[in-house]
Amino acid sequence: MARVFSGIQPSGGMHLGNLLGALRNWVAYQHDHDAVYCVVDLHALTTAPDPAELRDNTMAAAAMLLSVGIDSDRSTLFVQSSVGEHAELAWMMECTVGFGELRRMTQFKDKSDRSEFVSAGLFTYPALQASDILLYDTDLVPVGDDQRQHIELCRDIAERFNRRYGETFVVPAHVIPEAGARVMDLQNPGDKMSKSLESAGTVGVLEEPDSVTRKFKRAVTDSDNEVHYNPDTKPGVSNLLGILASATGRTPESVADDYAQYGPLKADTAEAVNELLSPIRERYAELSSDPGEIARVLAAGADKARTVAAATLNRARDNAGLIPRSPA
Ligand code: TYM
Repeated sequence: MARVFSGIQPSGGMHLGNLLGALRNWVAYQHDHDAVYCVVDLHALTTAPDPAELRDNTMAAAAMLLSVGIDSDRSTLFVQSSVGEHAELAWMMECTVGFGELRRMTQFKDKSDRSEFVSAGLFTYPALQASDILLYDTDLVPVGDDQRQHIELCRDIAERFNRRYGETFVVPAHVIPEAGARVMDLQNPGDKMSKSLESAGTVGVLEEPDSVTRKFKRAVTDSDNEVHYNPDTKPGVSNLLGILASATGRTPESVADDYAQYGPLKADTAEAVNELLSPIRERYAELSSDPGEIARVLAAGADKARTVAAATLNRARDNAGLIPRSPA
């Protein structure tokens, strides 16, 4: 069975972009693939979050993944820092990736421009991400469009390592959905939707229906009052069409044919999103009352993940010329 791996940062609440761009594919893949999903707390450390918040957010992210439909009987779900192999292989990845390659990453440019203190970890972030993926002999990586460059770099790293040291890693491919790959901010449709759930432009996965409806009603559009899909010239309207298409399994172009005015498009998009979110909210409320169960799922997931990761790490160590950890 082909292996699927993906990860999400535990940095506050999840939003509609995470759900439509990535998590819905995660759920779909677990039925006919060997699915491994990870809450990447080591990646979150690159921006020095408050320790208590990081811990809470990590558990909340796991609860959220279970609420969107990740089934711990079908998928392996764990926290990155529980499997030490990720950090160890990351060093080997850092020694395989070029400084120039890391410098070209647009996410690093965006994040470092916005930060006062830029950690070295923020710069080498894609090397840790490559470690996450390659440890599991991953075939497919379901992600949103903003991760495309990181996955392509991961492929280059895998190929370079294989050339240097002989066949070691499976070279993975990204899977990016047609609609929903780039959910934009409702207030600034030139920017992608991102965490900071208080913002009027971001819709949280756990947000109350009234608030969701209000945010869609106030979404920025344009003044020409024509509904058609063109993200370059009509970013606001196209974002609404993309969200409605993704939520209902259609294409944005065919959704556009159904509307002549912005008002009904906004109302229907809000309704479709609320329909998608309401079961998630209910399951999250149930799960949150049982933190012991989440901890059990994560511990069992980490045990399973470690078995696969340890075998791959040993192969990489051996091929690169590191001596066995203990005499064979
Ligand atoms: P993160 O935590 O920022 O986002 C998790 C997933 O959500 C997708 N996403 C979006 N999709 C559509 N529209 C948006 N506005 C939007 N915002 C976020 C992301 O593309 C992602 O798929 N570096 C990764 C985490 C990571 C990872 C990995 C992913 C670490 N190791 C290994 C894949 C494989 C990140 O920060 O995602």
